[in-house]
Amino acid sequence: DGTRILIKGGTVVNAHLAEEADVYIEDGVVVAVRPDIPVDVDNVRVIDATGKYVMPGGIDPHTHLEMEFMGTVTIDDFFSGHAAALAGGTTMHIDFVIPVDGNLTAGLESYKHKAAKAAMDYGFHMAITKWNDEVAREMEVMVKEHGINSFKFFMAYKGSLMVTDDLLLQGLRKCKSLGALAMVHAENGDAVAEGQQRMIDLGITGPEGHALSRPPILEGEATARAIRLAKFINTPLYVVHVMSIDAMDEIAKAKREGQRVIGEPVVSGLVLDDSWLWDPDFTIASKYVMSPPIREAGHGKALQAALSSGILQLVGTDHCTFNSTQKAFGSDDFRKIPNGVNGLEERMHILWDSMVTGKISVTDYVRVTSTECAKTFNIFPRKGAILEGSDADIIILNPERSFVMGALTHHSRSNTNVYEGRKGKGMVEITISRGRVVWEDGVLNIAPGSGRYVMMPPFGYVFDGIEKSDATYRASLRAPVQRGKAAA
Ligand code: URP
Ligand code: ZN
Ligand code: ZN
Ligand code: ZN
Repeated sequence: DGTRILIKGGTVVNAHLAEEADVYIEDGVVVAVRPDIPVDVDNVRVIDATGKYVMPGGIDPHTHLEMEFMGTVTIDDFFSGHAAALAGGTTMHIDFVIPVDGNLTAGLESYKHKAAKAAMDYGFHMAITKWNDEVAREMEVMVKEHGINSFKFFMAYKGSLMVTDDLLLQGLRKCKSLGALAMVHAENGDAVAEGQQRMIDLGITGPEGHALSRPPILEGEATARAIRLAKFINTPLYVVHVMSIDAMDEIAKAKREGQRVIGEPVVSGLVLDDSWLWDPDFTIASKYVMSPPIREAGHGKALQAALSSGILQLVGTDHCTFNSTQKAFGSDDFRKIPNGVNGLEERMHILWDSMVTGKISVTDYVRVTSTECAKTFNIFPRKGAILEGSDADIIILNPERSFVMGALTHHSRSNTNVYEGRKGKGMVEITISRGRVVWEDGVLNIAPGSGRYVMMPPFGYVFDGIEKSDATYRASLRAPVQRGKAAA
């Protein structure tokens, strides 16, 4: 659209390098990144970024906008969710398409309609909830024609989304053959259902029952199981919302043994603890109900350490918001509280404030909030970097400004916020989405329909070296062993 922007005097941060440089943008694309770019073109807007960080916009790998879930629909759609994201320095997200009665094509159609009001770029993962030949065929169509390169399997939510081990195995094998990445929600759904019933039998019907009914051991078990099954099939695995030391340890062990496992912590798991669930005020306690549950103090610190050291490598939100009326569906039974918390608007600020203070470097901040996600889902360096030719999805962060979070000022449609009252330092002052300034001076300038769908191609590199250690491949190199024949 001809828009030209020159960002001068800031520190440009990519995952590989932080440098003093200017950034010149034209028609939504980064054209130049180097020091002292002269202002010698017409109609260029010059932004002074002296003393500020110029970074790739955040990419959130895990959101649920306008999702039908637990008898209701998440309250943020592809417009309000995008408003929240852009105001918080996130310029792209990947949402989970939920099939309609197991049908992937119908699910995608429904999500394309929901996303017609998108105000920023987005991509899709797809959940697999049923298995038959048609699903397997549709997975292939999704990868080859619709730019979906990741499929999610819910090992929890018995009776709705949960898959069996048999389905998971079939799905893992199909993902492998398509060059797609398998993702799991790792909790033992059968044990969760048993634990929930036990709490109800004990008369524990409040939100604390949610935490008590599905402890870390059930997350650890399912994480270990999914990792073993992925190893058996010999395909990479992405574990979403790693919430406990138990799950993180399984990922660390698998990595040590050379297995390709990607662990995604979410902001709530990194910085909150489960004490909220014991709040006597149901309206407060129910806000914090998500699955796997927010854990006891100690888990978050351990997950932060795992993120610093690279055991876990990219941060999502699992943004899945409901208002207090929806949360109240479960006022007499925690099993009916819609699961999910906010974070799309808060992620970039909370991570800056809580991690870029000795725990990670500014370059690692960019890596865990943006670059690693772009690489993992095969859209780097178009996304996740400020390089010549990259999409101009850029934020300018002022490390000296402070923020306060809460429902009164956030852009989510929910009337609640799990980070209510949280203060910190480091403010995203400007957000640029594909070359347009969309957030500035606390004001959003966005239009429904301006966001684009980002096609994510299947992988080659993720699978390099994997085929050669595969049992099927090795078998193909050998003649079958002849047994039962006595030596002549
Ligand atoms: O509680 C959560 N996490 N709600 C969203 C669905 C999911 O499991 O990711
Ligand atoms: Zn249509
Ligand atoms: Zn989940
Ligand atoms: Zn989720």
